Amino acid sequence: MIVLLGASGYVGRAFQRLLQQSGEDYVSLSREQVDYTQYRDLVDFLRSLRPQFLINAAGYTGKPNVDACEIAKADALRGNAMFPLVVSHACQSVGIAWGHVSSGCIFSGGIVDCDGRRQIEPDLTTPAMKYLLATNPKAVHGFRETDEPNFSFRRPPCSFYSGSKALGEESLADDPFAYLWRLRIPFNQQDCPRNYLSKLQRYGKVYDNVNSVSHLDDYCRACLDLWKLGAPFGIYNVTNPGYVTTRQVVEMIGRVLLPARSFDYWENDDEFYRVAAKTPRSNCVLDTSKLIASGVKIRGVEEAIMDSLESWQAEPDRVSVHLT
Ligand SMILES: NC(=O)c1ccc[n+]([C@@H]2O[C@H](COP(=O)([O-])OP(=O)(O)OC[C@H]3O[C@@H](n4cnc5c(N)ncnc54)[C@H](OP(=O)(O)O)[C@@H]3O)[C@@H](O)[C@H]2O)c1
Repeated sequence: MIVLLGASGYVGRAFQRLLQQSGEDYVSLSREQVDYTQYRDLVDFLRSLRPQFLINAAGYTGKPNVDACEIAKADALRGNAMFPLVVSHACQSVGIAWGHVSSGCIFSGGIVDCDGRRQIEPDLTTPAMKYLLATNPKAVHGFRETDEPNFSFRRPPCSFYSGSKALGEESLADDPFAYLWRLRIPFNQQDCPRNYLSKLQRYGKVYDNVNSVSHLDDYCRACLDLWKLGAPFGIYNVTNPGYVTTRQVVEMIGRVLLPARSFDYWENDDEFYRVAAKTPRSNCVLDTSKLIASGVKIRGVEEAIMDSLESWQAEPDRVSVHLT
């Protein structure tokens, strides 16, 4: 049996769908039923159920976006930095392995080949990087699991959300039976305010950048596959291999969904942060070779996005309320 924490959330619901569809024996738990953020309550619950595995899809994201974490700092720290340690201790105490929904938002930029050397480039939107991306896209690589986060409290600037997620990863470094599954900018075919493809369509103006992104259902399947394949515990970047620019995604949206609107872009970072965002945003490329080498099958990023758009399930029209 598998226990799923945070099943009422955006990521948790996707895990729940997958567990249902694949006929897994599972129990989902909400804080309303058992306050699983309390060590004793969680241990008692796990002892009574004796599951084989636990998925932690619970955490604090901030609504409508990460700017909210700049105000709710205690909630972000409690939900993202301290709570994973509670789960870790509880799972170790009852002797079960588990997986934690982590995030790629603890990185900024990518790793680029420059003058025969590989170096970290924290901003892939500079004119030099734009030129490199246009002329030699293969020279841009992703951060690996062994790279130190460069968008964290230890390596500022960062958003408070990203800082709290990086602390969460740090707190699990000594857990020998935990998977840390890094998710990044989730999307799928189901239109909803949390879906990256929906957000792009609703933004007043679009922020152009370069990112690795995760098809939400591919992500959940890949995470579960890691456990089923008996892959070594530890950190995994779980994105669809490759990267995309926002412009590429907007172009795909235009081509497939034929929206009635045109898309404007923020002129530059200055305008974006002055008008639309309070805290720095992570934009980054992640390397998925560890995931692939573990035997997990996951399609490339462009195929995943195109497939989502071609099977798009639109919600009734909404007012554009989220700017970032
Ligand atoms: N969505 C993204 O873009 C994204 C990207 C990368 C990583 N992640 C990570 O994925 C995890 C889930 O994110 P999500 O987008 O699914 O969030 P969500 O929709 O807000 O759901 C999170 C769920 O966690 C539970 N929870 C437990 N402690 C909480 C707390 N202190 N504050 C708020 N909720 C708490 C709640 O479930 P109950 O109260 O019912 O138990 C809630 O429904 C988080 O760790 C997040 O950092 C999300």
